Amino acid sequence: MTIPREGTNLDPWYELYADRTAGLSASEVRALFAVASRPEVVSLAGGMPFVSALPLERVTTSMERVMREQGSRALQYGSGQGTPELREHILEIMALEGVRAGVDDVVVTTGSQQALDLIAKLFLDSGDVVLAESPSYVGAMGIFRSYQAEVSHVAMDDDGIIPQALVERIASMRAQGRAIKFLYLIPNFHNPAGVTLSWERRLEIIEIARREGILIVEDNPYGLLWFDRPAPHAMRSVETEGIVYLGSFSKTLAPGFRIGWALAPHGIREKLVLAAESAILSPSVANELIVSDYLASTDWKGQIDTYRGLYRDRRDAMIDALEHYLPDLHWTMPNGGFYIWVTLPDGLDSKGMLPRAVKELVAYTPGTAFFADGSGRANLRLSYCYPSPAEIREGIRRLAGVVRGEQELLSTFSPSTSPERVGTAPHVISPPPNIG
Ligand SMILES: Cc1ncc(COP(=O)(O)O)c(C=O)c1O
Repeated sequence: MTIPREGTNLDPWYELYADRTAGLSASEVRALFAVASRPEVVSLAGGMPFVSALPLERVTTSMERVMREQGSRALQYGSGQGTPELREHILEIMALEGVRAGVDDVVVTTGSQQALDLIAKLFLDSGDVVLAESPSYVGAMGIFRSYQAEVSHVAMDDDGIIPQALVERIASMRAQGRAIKFLYLIPNFHNPAGVTLSWERRLEIIEIARREGILIVEDNPYGLLWFDRPAPHAMRSVETEGIVYLGSFSKTLAPGFRIGWALAPHGIREKLVLAAESAILSPSVANELIVSDYLASTDWKGQIDTYRGLYRDRRDAMIDALEHYLPDLHWTMPNGGFYIWVTLPDGLDSKGMLPRAVKELVAYTPGTAFFADGSGRANLRLSYCYPSPAEIREGIRRLAGVVRGEQELLSTFSPSTSPERVGTAPHVISPPPNIG
């Protein structure tokens, strides 16, 4: 066989890749995982759930029972839509968020990440537009990019996406003749912004989407992890035809099972199952049975309460530390989930500051990861889900040293330089000015 002579020294196949691979690049979050895994670094970067809080002996019991009692089924191919018993359990879980549906409406996926990929595969052609909050989940934007679509951000504030900004963005995209395929939203405890879409706005957004004929993808992995009061009911609780709802066991149980789900209107669901079968034939039956057994034999609501208490303590530890060490910064106040979105003082650049932070043994995710065009230098995402409260405090103490150091450097060398700021007020997260 002759190796093609085009390409690069590193990869002789480079010239042969499909155009869409241009969108496949390592995210900043991914690159950070390598650095942040060094034990001496306090990582406030990743979104890893604290799975050590799970009753591991219960999980072990479920694994053993499934293998003993249903081993040959567990190790076989299964339904592309997922096992009926798991889909039944999923209905119970969604009922907690006000969603009523039937077992046939649910498609089990390999994490909600796969559901996002399948939706993108079904809807996105090159040059299509996906509307998303500003900022948005880096992993979803990577998928949309890999299907050669463009993410167009819509401004949000402490109550989530701003309805009027959505109306204006739709109008400006359509005026340019662009095809809007769907609106991607994370209404609860947003990743990365930490904020929650208010109930009034949920209704307004649904109304706008109905009027404009735009499908909503409601991505809700964090909804049950609330702290002080439950999140408003899911948008899917009041709109069935215009929403694809995505759920996941990754944050409420464990990401290692790789089980998520989609709840979709009939036509989309049929296509989702076909696309899922073509991608993976069926989700892991073993994992589906283990999760079903665990849910049937464990007080899973109590276990979610344990997670909620744990993450609430960590959120409190982070807010206390920010108030103590960095009182002049602005940050969002999450009422659940894993993340706080921080706005740096004027002139500071979260991406440029990261090497210094890592040198000082603290890691965070620069805001640039969460915008399609790399803006967001004035922001960073802090995660409080994984480190202990003491580590969080130490991490913020180190971060404060880094911020002070950068401020000193800035005032010494370039008093007038300031990276482009986004936002018209400290709490408003506006879209990058150069997008549609
Ligand atoms: C908003 C959002 N959607 C989807 C995912 C993917 O989750 P899963 O593990 O279910 O694939 C994540 C993971 O962090 C997320 O934050």
